[in-house]
Amino acid sequence: MSEKHSHRGIRTRAIHAGEGPDPTTRASAPNLVMSTTFVIDDAEANFSARALTPESPFAYTRWGNPTVRQLERKLADLEGGEAAVAFASGMAATIALFLHLLKTGDHLVVSDVAYAGVSELVTDTVRKLGIGVSFVDTSDLDELRGALRTNTRLVHVETPANPILRLTDIRAAAEIAHQAGAQLCVDSTFATPVATRPLELGAEYVIHSLTKYLCGHGDALGGAVVGRMGPMEALRQDTGIHMGGVISPFNAWLIMRGMATLPLRMAAHAEGALRVARFLEQHPAVTRVIYPGLESHPQYALARRQM
Ligand SMILES: Cc1ncc(COP(=O)(O)O)c(C=O)c1O
Repeated sequence: MSEKHSHRGIRTRAIHAGEGPDPTTRASAPNLVMSTTFVIDDAEANFSARALTPESPFAYTRWGNPTVRQLERKLADLEGGEAAVAFASGMAATIALFLHLLKTGDHLVVSDVAYAGVSELVTDTVRKLGIGVSFVDTSDLDELRGALRTNTRLVHVETPANPILRLTDIRAAAEIAHQAGAQLCVDSTFATPVATRPLELGAEYVIHSLTKYLCGHGDALGGAVVGRMGPMEALRQDTGIHMGGVISPFNAWLIMRGMATLPLRMAAHAEGALRVARFLEQHPAVTRVIYPGLESHPQYALARRQM
């Protein structure tokens, strides 16, 4: 979380974090900068991604863009991270992180329930690269502990998991992963930073499909990884810049505009969802309702603590 915003509540940060007046026009709302290229004054400029630092001037939008940068700063602030890298979709963010961290011979542990695209990606594409994959019920900490090997580099959990809303205890999963020398990544798309901040609970990486609650209007695909500054700059170079699956500035602008109302929308979603869940729970035609906000959910206590 940036110091400038640390004393502000999440509703204020959702609006203002990462943004600032345009240095030329003094426009206070984020400008949409669609330019692919930027004028570089330095004749000695080094056009290698390896020379890029967070302070480098903008050169080319695949490397960095003023509108995208504001979205990344807002995301990092809301998640309590140091930096974020935005991608064209949640899937692009997920495969970028996997390809960045894993190589042939490594081992990946994944929630056995996850968004179908992620399950298929891991089964088909990641395995094809010679990376071992174990699917684990990560809500069962003993099962998680038992799945870790000496070559496990990453544990990837989705909490709440799409579509059955099963939770994983992030703090405990982080401890287990770290004891085995692995890192923890949390797909927090369903929770959003309004409900859960995985980095504060010990995870190294948070992944979002920005397409969902963060955008909130169903009109822009996007994805992001949030974490510490050094790893995020390495991720940007290796995957954003070299693999090229970056977000369009227009989508970044739309998502940032949506994020201003994220805390208000999440409060309304939670209130509405609980009302529907309670209604269904007492309905004679319904045999089972799965919603972690209901006292009858087996992970209700974890939901209260973590969400
Ligand atoms: C939990 C979760 N992660 C990742 C994704 C993939 O995101 P995108 O559709 O933005 O590629 C989805 C999409 O539904 C999702 O629900």
